[in-house]
Amino acid sequence: MADASESLTVTDNRTGQTYELPIEEGAIRASALRLIKLNDEDPGLLSYDPGYIATASCRSAITFIDGERGILRYRGYPIEELAEHSSFLEVAYLLVSGELPNDQELALWVDEIKHHTLVHENIRKFVDGFHHDAHPMGILISTVAALSTFYPDAKDIDDAAKRRLQIVRMTAKSATLAAFAFRHAMGFPYVYPDNDLSYTGNFLSMMFKMAELKLKPEPALERALDVLFMLHADHEQNCSTSAMRQVGSSRPDPYSAAAAAVAALYGPLHGGANEQVLRMLTEIARPENVAGYVARAKEGKRRLMGFGHRVYRSYDPRGRVARQVADDVFKVTGINPLLETALELERVALSDDYFLSRQLYPNVDFYTGMIYQAMGFPVDMFPVLFAIGRMPGWLAQWEENLLDEEQKINRPRQLWVGHGIRHYVPMGHRAPYAGTRLALQAASAAPPRPGR
Ligand code: CMC
Repeated sequence: MADASESLTVTDNRTGQTYELPIEEGAIRASALRLIKLNDEDPGLLSYDPGYIATASCRSAITFIDGERGILRYRGYPIEELAEHSSFLEVAYLLVSGELPNDQELALWVDEIKHHTLVHENIRKFVDGFHHDAHPMGILISTVAALSTFYPDAKDIDDAAKRRLQIVRMTAKSATLAAFAFRHAMGFPYVYPDNDLSYTGNFLSMMFKMAELKLKPEPALERALDVLFMLHADHEQNCSTSAMRQVGSSRPDPYSAAAAAVAALYGPLHGGANEQVLRMLTEIARPENVAGYVARAKEGKRRLMGFGHRVYRSYDPRGRVARQVADDVFKVTGINPLLETALELERVALSDDYFLSRQLYPNVDFYTGMIYQAMGFPVDMFPVLFAIGRMPGWLAQWEENLLDEEQKINRPRQLWVGHGIRHYVPMGHRAPYAGTRLALQAASAAPPRPGR
């Protein structure tokens, strides 16, 4: 029998009726609210939650976050332990398979990934079609979507072996697509994968190899990037993962769903934040300018990029590891001159009641941008690096959603705030609408972008 204490008693003051809503795993089912009605015609109560602040959209066993205590675990394993002892491909296996691999499983998985790093030559031609200043995230969104046209078998999402094949392909090819986007922007020839190298070493080779026969990545930098990929590999139901699940819920192939996830990641409030941190630090330029910038942030004129998080109410555990990685990288590359400004910004913000009272602490993106810059990545590429790391997490979450018998096509409801019924007004009888006219005039007055 259900434990009566594990329930919520609600009285509807409109009718005086009382309802018992069961509490399961710290949640009530929103569908239980539909039983609360004014009368038989009433469809029942909805919960209203813009931004999904207090709504669990799924049950998941992939990534655990305790935002109050700054805890992040993949499949139960603390991020700090994985960052110290594991590798990106091992973490990818853990996320998509549920367990750490034994040595044979890992060797097979790494071999599989390496044998899928090449992309069809037509994808290369597709990348050629982008303008030289195309943002690499735009190229990545498009090329990930384009992969769906090369692998029609990917539509067979009920076949476990075919799902697995797409997971391998996407984990392998996202690094190749990312490097191609960079090489195209720079006007450099594309570099094809080198299977003698590790996943991350090969990515560095595809990015930076020039005339030499073989690029030998600096081990400390290769390890640093591998750790950063691990830090980004999953983060439960964030915006891009929710996009992956949302699009996946209508059951297209996973490439189409992943393209939506990359698009969601692109925004400056999510994966685009690392790029914005760098731009912000460059704008601040010197430690003595920090106070003025922080004052503008407090007035709401700016946001401190790389600060704050929807879930973490203390220091982002990924930020701590990233800080350590920064030290390791700067030993090889020399200190990023922006570091002094970043440290001063962190010091000022963390001693200011505005940020403390809102629980705004540095997040993972605060340090990653400086690391990427020191390693030679252009700022545009920062969110792309995030996307490479996040791919296995998206795929694990996509598959979990598909296999969850409770899940349905995602179809939220709305609270209607528009007009009641209005009857069609013929042209010539309508009031002029100044707003639309002004918008059209403004659009036609805007100067064209050079080169377009
Ligand atoms: N700088 C200054 N004020 C801030 C910031 C910030 N970075 N973030 C939140 N606030 C303030 C905000 O103005 C609001 O103040 P008030 O209560 O006076 O109106 C309060 O804090 C709550 O903000 P919110 O926008 O309601 O919080 P949210 O949970 O919706 O937003 C966030 C979370 C990450 C989008 C936000 O903190 C932000 O914009 N941070 C900067 C962008 C960033 O670094 N994003 C990367 C997140 S970590 C990587 C990832 O997983 O995507």
